[in-house]
Amino acid sequence: MTVKLLAFAASLRKGSLNRKLIHVAAGLARELGAEVDLADFREFEMPIFDGDVLEASGLPPGGQAFRSRIESADGLLIASPEYNYSVNGPLKNAIDWVSKVRPMPFRGRSALLLATAGGVHGGIRGLWQLRIPLEGCGCFVHPDMFPVPRGDQAFTPEGALADHALHTRLRHLIEHYLKAAAALASIRES
Ligand SMILES: Cc1cc2nc3c(=O)[nH]c(=O)nc-3n(C[C@H](O)[C@H](O)[C@H](O)COP(=O)(O)O)c2cc1C
Repeated sequence: MTVKLLAFAASLRKGSLNRKLIHVAAGLARELGAEVDLADFREFEMPIFDGDVLEASGLPPGGQAFRSRIESADGLLIASPEYNYSVNGPLKNAIDWVSKVRPMPFRGRSALLLATAGGVHGGIRGLWQLRIPLEGCGCFVHPDMFPVPRGDQAFTPEGALADHALHTRLRHLIEHYLKAAAALASIRES
């Protein structure tokens, strides 16, 4: 089967390093046979979660867009910046809005988590925290994650990963994830 992925970097910044990383990952996933919907996180911009707004008018437009793009995919490729050792607020907020929809869009879908940051940890602490709400929403989060340390030096001017070994490791990880995503998608559909 062809695995359909929604890919995005959870950063609104034009110069986002995580956007560079998701472009590399999306390109590799396509090379490996996946159908990739590469989204700009700005398409999913939404206000801070407010239960009264939800009750009065449902999901805001950004939330509706996030929901339908998730529902059209088998899995998610997310490059997520680490903020203060944890999940960044915009992504957590988006997950919170969409988590109120039934059936829950994340349930039964899979996710591969990536991050990059300026420091030596590459955002891995934020990814460990991001697993919690995603798994809480029923998402199969791939056991292996992909942090890229020193993100400010990690990309060539053309946007490739400068370290060839890192690029090869990412390719193998995505190859493995796509097999898992296909198997998990077949369970969801049955
Ligand atoms: C509010 C805030 C908190 C941050 N906290 C961390 C952190 O805990 N660890 C880290 O490695 N970098 C942290 N950073 C730096 C980001 O990793 C860095 O700005 C990164 O480039 C953001 O991702 P982006 O380029 O995709 O927007 C923080 C940045 C912001 C704006």
